[in-house]
Amino acid sequence: RELAVVVGTRPEIIKMAPVIRAAQGRFDLHLIHTGQHYDEEMSGAFFESLDLPTPDDNLEIGSGSQAEQTASGLVGVESMLVERDPAAVLALGDTNAVVSTALAASKLPTKFGHVEAGLRSFDRTMPEEVNRVVADHVADFSFAPTDQAVQHLDDEGISAGVYETGNTIVDACRDHAPMAEERSTVLTDLDIAGRDYVAATIHRASNTDDPDRLRAIMDALDTASAPVVLPAHPRTTSVLDDIGYEPSGSLRLVDPLDYLDFLKLLDNARVAVTDSGGIQEEASILEVPCLTVRPNTERPETVSAGVNQLVEPEDLGDRLETLLTDDAERAAMTGHPNLYGDGTAGEHIVDVLDAQV
Ligand code: UD1
Ligand code: UDP
Repeated sequence: RELAVVVGTRPEIIKMAPVIRAAQGRFDLHLIHTGQHYDEEMSGAFFESLDLPTPDDNLEIGSGSQAEQTASGLVGVESMLVERDPAAVLALGDTNAVVSTALAASKLPTKFGHVEAGLRSFDRTMPEEVNRVVADHVADFSFAPTDQAVQHLDDEGISAGVYETGNTIVDACRDHAPMAEERSTVLTDLDIAGRDYVAATIHRASNTDDPDRLRAIMDALDTASAPVVLPAHPRTTSVLDDIGYEPSGSLRLVDPLDYLDFLKLLDNARVAVTDSGGIQEEASILEVPCLTVRPNTERPETVSAGVNQLVEPEDLGDRLETLLTDDAERAAMTGHPNLYGDGTAGEHIVDVLDAQV
């Protein structure tokens, strides 16, 4: 039996890795990269450091508008599925690769499995929310990470083929954090000391597309009383270059990091500041207090558990300073919430497919 797996961007490669590993030897694996992310540091580097097979096909869809990426992915994935007729195809999360795969498979005999099903921000201005809803409504298998995700699906009338598996990010994080601690030299390379700095990432379109909002976020980070290391996503770098932004204080903009280096940077940070989906989850797993610069989140369990707070750019500076200087406030945001399962999500997903397709 052939199992096709589609990835397109950095987080999909990282979070699909545990599923790919679990499927090797049990299925004939056909790995498709849509090519949405293509820079070595956003794509190729992860296949190497996570020891993943090289994709069998790369659709090379590249950058473009929402419709361009979705349409190229749709045509490309459809042609792969028609040619190879796999028993099932998997895609993970909420990117354009996911909606392309979902639509292509839904009109073919191939079963579609949505990994990380049932997340909702209830904000339809996010392209990712549209992708989530569409993918969930055409999926044959919904691999939901949490109770709440199962509940969201149920609320929308989706109950057949739903499996609560935990999130593969726990598998990825647990497999790699010890390796990262041992092998990565990122703290020495950046000349920073554990628990003495902030790890930050910002890339969400809603934060980068408005230069004033992006500048306000960067200024809040630049005036922090501890070093702030921000491995910048190419989307962010491009806007910062356009507006000529140069930090002059605590903020250090660096190139995107390899997964082991980023995990070590995050694991040893005093505080994380992000708008990333995956990093909200990883910060909770690694027990690093997280400030999420967004008005809403599809990971509300991190907020309820007290390990994550939503902030707007105008409050970011004050909130960050409190966490940097007040040990009690910081301690109140750590703990052992274990929100995303026991680190066997990849195996669980492949067990279900093994029994059902
Ligand atoms: C995409 C996903 C987002 C996810 C993010 C992970 C959608 C709708 N968005 O957003 O959900 O959180 O990936 O990082 O699918 N670029 C490069 N090199 C690359 C890739 C991108 O320079 O290898 C630049 C291009 O200028 C491009 C811009 O980054 O236009 C945005 O890339 P794109 O893939 O369209 O969206 P992301 O912001 O990465
Ligand atoms: N990440 C990484 N290097 C970096 C920044 C992030 O390896 O420089 C990893 C991070 O550990 C997480 C994933 O990339 O697993 C998150 O990707 P991103 O924030 O781009 O996307 P999102 O999760 O928001 O979709």
